[in-house]
Amino acid sequence: MSTHRLTINGKSHQVEAPEDMPLLWVLRDLLHLSGTKFGWGAGQCGACTLHLDGRPIRSCIMPVRALAGKKITTIEGLSGKGDHAIQKAWHEVDVPQCGYCQASQIMAAVALLKTIPKPTDTDIDPAMGIQFIGGSQTVGSNHQLMRQADAPARQMLIAAAAATWSIPEGECHAEQGKVLASKAATMPVPDSKAVALKKPAEFKVIGQWTPGVDNFKILTGEPLYGIDMHLPGMLYAVDTKCPVFGGKPVSANLDEVKKLPGVKDAFIINGASQPSGLRPGVAIVAKNTWAAFSARKQLKVRWDEGTAADQSWNSYRKEVRAGGGFGRRINNNYVGECALIAAKVGAPVKLTRDRTDDLHGDVHRADGLSATWLQMITLDKGRIVETNFNDYPLLRMNQALAIDIHINSGSGFPGMDEPNLPATAAAIPNAIFAATGKSVRDRPIRKTDLSWR
Ligand code: FES
Repeated sequence: MSTHRLTINGKSHQVEAPEDMPLLWVLRDLLHLSGTKFGWGAGQCGACTLHLDGRPIRSCIMPVRALAGKKITTIEGLSGKGDHAIQKAWHEVDVPQCGYCQASQIMAAVALLKTIPKPTDTDIDPAMGIQFIGGSQTVGSNHQLMRQADAPARQMLIAAAAATWSIPEGECHAEQGKVLASKAATMPVPDSKAVALKKPAEFKVIGQWTPGVDNFKILTGEPLYGIDMHLPGMLYAVDTKCPVFGGKPVSANLDEVKKLPGVKDAFIINGASQPSGLRPGVAIVAKNTWAAFSARKQLKVRWDEGTAADQSWNSYRKEVRAGGGFGRRINNNYVGECALIAAKVGAPVKLTRDRTDDLHGDVHRADGLSATWLQMITLDKGRIVETNFNDYPLLRMNQALAIDIHINSGSGFPGMDEPNLPATAAAIPNAIFAATGKSVRDRPIRKTDLSWR
């Protein structure tokens, strides 16, 4: 542990940290500046981009010992009020979606424009890195349910107003959902199926441009996401799972790990029996995330690998046709794991996983064009061979085909939704078959013989 003096956003800070602690974790865990984000921690994804002496760097691979005399600028220091020209432009055209990577995108864009004021696409692609979309079913799947929940509440507000003012309900209408809320709560709850839903012509928000409500926080780096939260007495955890799906830990060098710098505890998690539930593994709890990550490198676990350890790609594909993206965060079981670790150590805990943890620890799901054209998952002795986007690449925007999009406004709520992604993966081979008579069954297609071309 050494003392480091850092100049961050024009202010001087003194921190106690190991020499090899990356700047990212100094900012996030020691100084609670959470605008700079953690993605993978390997200098690849760009989520942790900030400026060092005015130039963009990946802070997850920049050790604190290298920062003496340097000027560090994070998203929090870019303007202070979110009024840098780039922040304003981002807000104006509503760039943030989930927004997690936007602070780093802004920092990258500011640095790019400083060196190339009028960049071309060729300048922009390498400077801004991977850009891709995900999707959500939330609006499409729940819109009708939300309307059915909303309509009775509106009817109760109207009934409360009519009763209070002694006028017919037909002369009242509800707006903003605030008036007479306490009286409305005492009204009988109407049957949601019997209440008239609002007519589409009366929609005030749907169909209108509505900027993201969290845009200001996203653009200025204010804490917003779960990973940004700090609670008094918080500890920081990582966990490790058996590389073979269904395996569990038998023993581990826990006593050695507990003696490592910054480590508070280390223990085996027994997990649950169902595959989608809490998976068995080993947890390490430390004073900060970097200490937990560092200790995990010294962890040695003896695994009971279970029956899947015999599986290879060739044996597996005989049984199941699988393909597509994989990412642990499609399941929310990490929430239960974090709660279990917190209960064990008796303190609030932040559990952090890197991208490789995600890729090796979850179910597969198809990911549209990327899965169709590029992504190959292989199994060897029950282990996923691919580790991250370096060997499991996503399609880049400049590789994507031109796509015509038709949004149907039928009886349901229109929207793109994520289910279009797997459908795309199936539609392309169907189109190839229709055009050529050739049946393409393997993914990615790129590895298939397309000799009619
Ligand atoms: S590049 Fe640093 S977290 Fe991804």
